[in-house]
Amino acid sequence: MFQKKKTIVIGNWKMHGSVQNNEVFLEELLSTMEDISSGDYECGIAIPSIYLFQFSSRSDLGSFHLGAQNVAQWSDFGAYTGEINAKMLLEFDCKFSIVGHSERRKYFEETNEIVATKANHLLDCGIVPLVCVGEDQQERENDAAVEFVTQQVEQICSLIGPEKIKKCIFAYEPIWAIGSGKVAAESDIKEMHEVLRNFLESFIDENAAHDIPLLYGGSVSDKNVISIVQTENVDGVLVGGASVSMETFGKLLQNVSGNHQ
Ligand code: 13P
Repeated sequence: MFQKKKTIVIGNWKMHGSVQNNEVFLEELLSTMEDISSGDYECGIAIPSIYLFQFSSRSDLGSFHLGAQNVAQWSDFGAYTGEINAKMLLEFDCKFSIVGHSERRKYFEETNEIVATKANHLLDCGIVPLVCVGEDQQERENDAAVEFVTQQVEQICSLIGPEKIKKCIFAYEPIWAIGSGKVAAESDIKEMHEVLRNFLESFIDENAAHDIPLLYGGSVSDKNVISIVQTENVDGVLVGGASVSMETFGKLLQNVSGNHQ
């Protein structure tokens, strides 16, 4: 799953959803995906873990990938009230999980070390880590974005190691672009994705680095998705707000599927 020869579209619902609305969303998503089944895309949604069972108990999910937004930094069962480990996610057909989202870094003080630990636990369970990196407004304004993101990725990669990193996906999400309606300039996306690709090429071999999907996230919509996925070294998108409703997510998927790269 998540082969980079297809355009990858992953939704991140963040803290949204309700049992009733999820049913409606899922019906519409599956019917849209059936309509555009010939498109060269792969789709996943990172939902709040509490809804994983509702989704995974359906037998008709088809090619749609179910994902989580977070995982515990502890792999063993134990006294970690409120936490959910990778083994639990696996039981509910969870194929991938976001780690290191900027909102988790901000509100839960997640460091690169914690992000790497979580990614390692996921990998041990065969779940794909979707590792998020990205600079804030200040770093962008100070021309320090490349340096900051390089440091994030270097640290995380060295803690995960060259073999396991090949099974990860990365998302470049500039913090100032998240939920702001301010999508990063195409030139900035291109530059950062090239930096990421070059780093991966130096960390592992060139072919393996080329196969790691690099997504862009931050105010992606049905309107701008095509130009974003056509940018060099962009293998897909991580979509927040526009993934919560099928009105916008459906259009976005339709646009992507018509875009055979
Ligand atoms: P928005 O698409 O709402 O800007 O959110 C991006 C994001 O944080 C996805 O993980």
